[in-house]
Amino acid sequence: MSLQPTTTVARIAGYVGETVTLAGWVYHKTGKGKLVFLLLRDGSGTIQCVIFKKQVSETTFALAQQLGQEAACRVTGSVRADERAPGGFELDVHELELVGPSVEYPISPKDHGVEFLMEHRHLWVRSARQHALLRVRAEVIAAAQEWLNEQGFIRFDSPILTATAAEGTSNLFATDYFDLGKAYLAQTGQLYVEAGMMAFGKVYCFGPTFRAEKSKTRRHLTEFWMIEPEVAFADHEDNLVLQEQFVSAIVQRVLERRAADLDVLERDTTVLKRCVPPFPRISYDDALELINAHQGEVEGATPVPWGEDFGAPHEQLIASQFDRPVFVERYPAAIKAFYMEPDPARPEVALCADLLAPEGYGEIIGGSQRIHDPDLLERRINEHGLDVADYRWYLDLRRYGTVPHSGFGMGIERAVAWITGTRHIRETIPFPRMLYRIYP
Ligand code: 4AD
Ligand code: MG
Repeated sequence: MSLQPTTTVARIAGYVGETVTLAGWVYHKTGKGKLVFLLLRDGSGTIQCVIFKKQVSETTFALAQQLGQEAACRVTGSVRADERAPGGFELDVHELELVGPSVEYPISPKDHGVEFLMEHRHLWVRSARQHALLRVRAEVIAAAQEWLNEQGFIRFDSPILTATAAEGTSNLFATDYFDLGKAYLAQTGQLYVEAGMMAFGKVYCFGPTFRAEKSKTRRHLTEFWMIEPEVAFADHEDNLVLQEQFVSAIVQRVLERRAADLDVLERDTTVLKRCVPPFPRISYDDALELINAHQGEVEGATPVPWGEDFGAPHEQLIASQFDRPVFVERYPAAIKAFYMEPDPARPEVALCADLLAPEGYGEIIGGSQRIHDPDLLERRINEHGLDVADYRWYLDLRRYGTVPHSGFGMGIERAVAWITGTRHIRETIPFPRMLYRIYP
């Protein structure tokens, strides 16, 4: 015997007039007199199941009346097309089997505070909005990887336990590593994909990355997922072109395949539809002027002296001047990572860019051309107070067949927050890890 259903709600259109078995959970239940209406959720969708007293046994009808919210059951009945039904189909139930009861499910249709919901995240993921968000997340991840695969990239996995820092030493999670001292949770896979790039030409890594950032903002997680392409024989320009193609391919695929979910999320898709190359580009210097000219339009976007980084209000102000994602390029080298190639015309700035999403979602991509000269790289490692001995292997990449190369990292949660129009990043990952949350 199999417990598998005949089909799923998503595929029900192919079964009109037939008898099928569905398996799922009771999302909602109403009834009057001789009728019980079950809204059954099977993970692929929801369907209204109609239980009419005269068409089922007495025990089945009694069981239907007793089912609690989120009770698991198998329901057998005939599929009927009904224009008035949400989704267009209903199931006239013949049989009902309780698989797992549910009594006093804590999340009711009434409004709960977000802290309560976060505390019940393991159950909250069943709710319609969360469900739509996580489906979009899955689509973004699939779209990103499949697009890169089609472009000839090889997935090249990078380690999570690492011996060195790559994105500054102030936000490392450390753990003891046997007799070898400290190990750190990877802040990025980049240094390792650079080794892969020299082996395969075009590679990417995709996995969780960690930052012990004590920032309690709506854009920061301590554990987030990043996809990081890296390309040989590619300069800063090539990098920006790749990024705009990559981002627009992902957004267009979500628009095509997850329209129903964007609808549940009440996402205004006009901004997303405009997300096609070329994306506007402005330099860090021009961004400073833009901030001066428009200060006051966004709270907290006060003038920035040259050489300092932007805060969230500044990014919001810059992005608000454009109708699609915008690249801010050539930041002062001193505020960026040690591995970034300096601009040959102006060595005080780096050949790097941040891609800022529209509507105040901030930086979704950080990327750069990498230093490919071994001597310069060694100098930079020293200047950043890092121990050259730890980076021997990374310097080797520049000693044996070095090439100009570039890459970037897109944070999945930031991208999903923007695409879905979700204010806080905590809802874009199944189990967010934040300064004040590690349960559930
Ligand atoms: O700009 P970042 O720090 O760049 C890197 O790590 C490079 N090594 C990537 C590369 O060139 N291969 O981070 C890249 C992206 C950000 O744009 C943002 O989307 C995301 O990672 N990110 C975070 N997302 C959530 N929470 C945090 N604390 C994040 N920090 C970065
Ligand atoms: Mg960055």
